[in-house]
Amino acid sequence: MITVSENNIFALTNSYFSYVFRVSPEGILEHLHYGGSLRDPLKVATHHLRTQREVATNFQGGPYFSLSDTPQEYPSFGTSDFRFPALHGRNSDGNTVFSLHYKKHKIVTDKPRLKKLPSARGGDSETLIVTLEDVLHKLEVELHYTIYQDYGVLVRSTKLKNKGDKEIQLQHAFSSALDLPPQDYEILHLHGTWSREFNEERIDVPKGRFVVDSARGTSSAAHNPFIAIVQKGATEEHGRVHATTLMYSGNFALSVEKGEFEDVRLLAGINPYNFHWRLKPGKKFCTPEALHVYADKGLRSMSHIWHEFVRDKVSPERFRHKPRPTYLNTWEAAYFDVDETKVLHLADKAKDIGVDMLVLDDGWFEGRRDDTSSLGDWTADKKRFPSGIPALAAKVKAKGLKFGIWFEPEMVNPKSQLFKNHPDWILHVPGRKPSLGRNQLTLDLSRPEVIDYLYGQIDNILSCGDIDYVKWDMNRNMTEVGSAGLPKNRQREVSHRYMIGLYDLLKRLTKKYPDILFENCASGGNRFDLGMLSFMAQNWTSDMCDPIGRLEIINGCSYLFPLDVTAAYIGPSPNHQNGRKSSIDTRFNAGAFCAARGISLNETDIEENKDQLQNLMQFAKNSAEDMVGGRFDRLIKTDTEVCWQYTTRDETKVYLAYFHILAAPNLPFRRARMVGLNPNADYTLVEDGVRYAGDALMQSGMPLPYVATGQVNENVRYMAKGDFSSYLFVFEKVAQ
Ligand code: GLA
Repeated sequence: MITVSENNIFALTNSYFSYVFRVSPEGILEHLHYGGSLRDPLKVATHHLRTQREVATNFQGGPYFSLSDTPQEYPSFGTSDFRFPALHGRNSDGNTVFSLHYKKHKIVTDKPRLKKLPSARGGDSETLIVTLEDVLHKLEVELHYTIYQDYGVLVRSTKLKNKGDKEIQLQHAFSSALDLPPQDYEILHLHGTWSREFNEERIDVPKGRFVVDSARGTSSAAHNPFIAIVQKGATEEHGRVHATTLMYSGNFALSVEKGEFEDVRLLAGINPYNFHWRLKPGKKFCTPEALHVYADKGLRSMSHIWHEFVRDKVSPERFRHKPRPTYLNTWEAAYFDVDETKVLHLADKAKDIGVDMLVLDDGWFEGRRDDTSSLGDWTADKKRFPSGIPALAAKVKAKGLKFGIWFEPEMVNPKSQLFKNHPDWILHVPGRKPSLGRNQLTLDLSRPEVIDYLYGQIDNILSCGDIDYVKWDMNRNMTEVGSAGLPKNRQREVSHRYMIGLYDLLKRLTKKYPDILFENCASGGNRFDLGMLSFMAQNWTSDMCDPIGRLEIINGCSYLFPLDVTAAYIGPSPNHQNGRKSSIDTRFNAGAFCAARGISLNETDIEENKDQLQNLMQFAKNSAEDMVGGRFDRLIKTDTEVCWQYTTRDETKVYLAYFHILAAPNLPFRRARMVGLNPNADYTLVEDGVRYAGDALMQSGMPLPYVATGQVNENVRYMAKGDFSSYLFVFEKVAQ
């Protein structure tokens, strides 16, 4: 996988891609190729054209060589490259000029894990570590590149070491830099807000700099930490794609810069905005991992690569390919109005309709009757839960159900015992009134004593042994980010130290409770990233539970995430987020390919729809095994239609979900061209036993149901009349 030539050309190659760079005669790491797999990667044209440009600034006096048009592996500022650099800092002389030259390299087969930050698992991989050095200021920069035998993902990270005897101040330390050659590119990225996460935007790469980032303390729904630079016009099936994400849950930046010579630089890492790190002599700073995918058959092939990797190398191994329980969540069933009797009633209802798990959401802890109080005091409310959570959990389990519970550990309400006892445990800056979000403040997770307190509180409840699932919520962005635990000249380290503290807490808890299924939530998808997923097998994708609102969200989310890591439930209609009315079927179908499926309905709604819910939960239970480890494909997405295919891991079953958003008269007859089937096999449609040939389903397509508007004809497969119809096909492959 990794070869190094005598004259220091480095080539990382597997069947998915080749990544090649070299040490230039000047000692600079010069990027040569990141794209399709090369037969002999060392034969790639060994250097970028060199010419004496007009008004060029020649790098350190050498002729015909300017860094401003040289693709590099880890560019810094101040020595003839004027673009946004990967490294920027202040050295002991007070200036910001660093010059990194090749020093040495090594190859290791055990992928090194980052100590304080999450990292992708290794296995069948090789890691190239190239050390660069600024000789003057004794700064060593280790670039790590991991390539896997069987995955199309390249993992990069950077370690900076101060080997001198004077402090260095880091202002940017990106995880990776990628200089792509001039071509016609577009950017695909995912933006949004609460209940409208993962909207897709496609734009031409502009001249200048385009950045998606977060300065909110969480990776955020405003811009998911994902970007794809795609060949202009790339579709699901065609076109070259370079996509990047980060294994990080805090302030990040993905910066795309089209320079004066039209090459495109992608920087990925911690957001340099409002970041600053004092690197004392002898100390190291590790960046988060940046993950890169190259795919040459369009967005579908990109998603397949991400999905396999996230499943196999990021999300907790214990839950890989493990069917998820169906569940009833109390949130939209009762909101804060929960007590032991009500929860036990709901548990009976859940049992009646065949649900596997009861999840007690917000509202169970001391004094919590609305969102104005009690976060931080993680003991059961004495009046409403007199026998406590462990006893309630045991009662629910005695009914033959699993039991799950909600926490929002990183937060505190001013109205709480915790705040009374420790007012300085919040993120705050001296002399300024802290801004509230949902009536709450953020705890200062950069302080070890806060981490220990939270660990103790949560451990107290989990140690009863009857908790199967935890929903870990986080419902505000961070403001007045400062810490009473750090000196003045380290205040800009707080956001990153917060993440280190959070990861430490999660590591300790998930290590002690490896069998508890943790679900990550931040008002839905406000912190849906690989960093959180490396501790938690599941993510609550969005609070948007209207199925039509959810279609866009799932579609966007699926560019990067396998639906194995997502959950969806049937919520009330009219929907509480946007007021839309929809059928139970469509509410189920929108989340049909998410691994975790359930309901959040009150007793009356459950009673009124009991038979249908029973059938759907039975279907969810029967297909739970299918919905992990399979292949998800986006087939159609327009303003009026969405069609997705899901093929099980053993490829014996294929599901097709079709949504028709607004009804209209005289619609065309549509087909869905299915993908990835065996052309030589037949597939039986379960509902009527009709056999279809695999090649025909792919080449000619599956006729889609028609929205009934007029007279119904027996030969036509109809969908429900009116808006927001949907249809779910199940095919079984005929054994050959
Ligand atoms: C957030 C979550 C919801 C629910 C509430 C509880 O909004 O996204 O699912 O848990 O908090 O307060």
